[in-house]
Amino acid sequence: AHQWQGVIREYADRLPMLADAPVVTLHEGGTPLIEAANLSELLGARVFVKYEGLNPTGSFKDRGMTTAMSKAAERGAKAVICASTGNTSAAAAAYATKAGMTCGVLVPDGKIAMGKLSQAIAHGATLLQVDGNFDDCLTLARKLADAYPVELVNSVNPARIEGQKTASFEIVDALGDAPDIHCLPVGNAGNITAYWQGYREYRDGTPGAAGAAGTGGPATKLPQMWGFQAAGAAPIVLGHPVDEPDTIATAIRIGNPASWQQAEAARDDSGGLIDAVSDAQILAAHRLLSSTEGIFVEPASAASIAGLLAMHEAGRVPAGATIVCTVTGHGLKDPQWALKSADGDDIVPTRVPIDAVSAAAALGLED
Ligand code: F0G
Repeated sequence: AHQWQGVIREYADRLPMLADAPVVTLHEGGTPLIEAANLSELLGARVFVKYEGLNPTGSFKDRGMTTAMSKAAERGAKAVICASTGNTSAAAAAYATKAGMTCGVLVPDGKIAMGKLSQAIAHGATLLQVDGNFDDCLTLARKLADAYPVELVNSVNPARIEGQKTASFEIVDALGDAPDIHCLPVGNAGNITAYWQGYREYRDGTPGAAGAAGTGGPATKLPQMWGFQAAGAAPIVLGHPVDEPDTIATAIRIGNPASWQQAEAARDDSGGLIDAVSDAQILAAHRLLSSTEGIFVEPASAASIAGLLAMHEAGRVPAGATIVCTVTGHGLKDPQWALKSADGDDIVPTRVPIDAVSAAAALGLED
């Protein structure tokens, strides 16, 4: 029986820079593209959700970490480091363990979700809580990688983008073509960069790094890239860095994205857009996904859906369009948001005695 081999082996012909590297994998990728029936009806379009929370550590970061860690292993690295709002640290910690390397992670003090913190610790990373935000952490991580024998595995590492672009390949393989519109959350802007690169390479039939000729892809079109930042952390939308980014979507609480220019290029070259969504819109989309589609995501991931809904309300979603929304991380990463009502009240389970009649009444069941 065939088991999915992870993105490096599945897309070997399209990842020439990994050709000679040892493969460090947890069999990431191969995530489902789920048709969202209720969203589709609401928008009068065909909406699909690329459920990246189903990667081994629960986010899309695994796609880029298999490639970054494999390149690090090829160079003989013994240690890796990253700055993170949580998911990168979880993925780096897991893949470093698999590779037999040590891992240091720099996270903003008090601003990462418990599930992600637990993962980094469980996988034996050395976790430093920095007295600053993500942008400060990344500056510090870059300095360390420049001055000490440690590899930086943030998305400024080109191998990260190589791995993450494979999500576009999977979408084209599943749909038989690229979608008309691709929506995703934007934080440090590595992922929008990677998706756009992936769609272009699949259309052109060229592999990522300079070198071998590609095999030619089935895609005939390119999507518009629609990126969404949280309103309190929307530097690209505002056109200037944000010194104190703030949002409940801690994964994208970033004020000065490293791949800012690449994100603007993806937006402009695709005829797309980058806009902001409020925390309230994010939480509404989070609730809509879990309660009408059966898909549980972390708040940052819901920004793609929130943005799509806002664009629909603004009359900007063409009827009948094929739309893919990437939901980047699993709901279990940061589950507390499910336990609040739309009004922000705590949702408390109903207590019942060990009694069928009472339980049936509480469940609203009829005789
Ligand atoms: N969604 C989730 C769940 C994320 O963890 C991130 C980034 C993004 C979206 C945005 O992706 O940065 O490529 O634009 N998280 C990084 C981290 C910053 O440290 O885990 P991006």
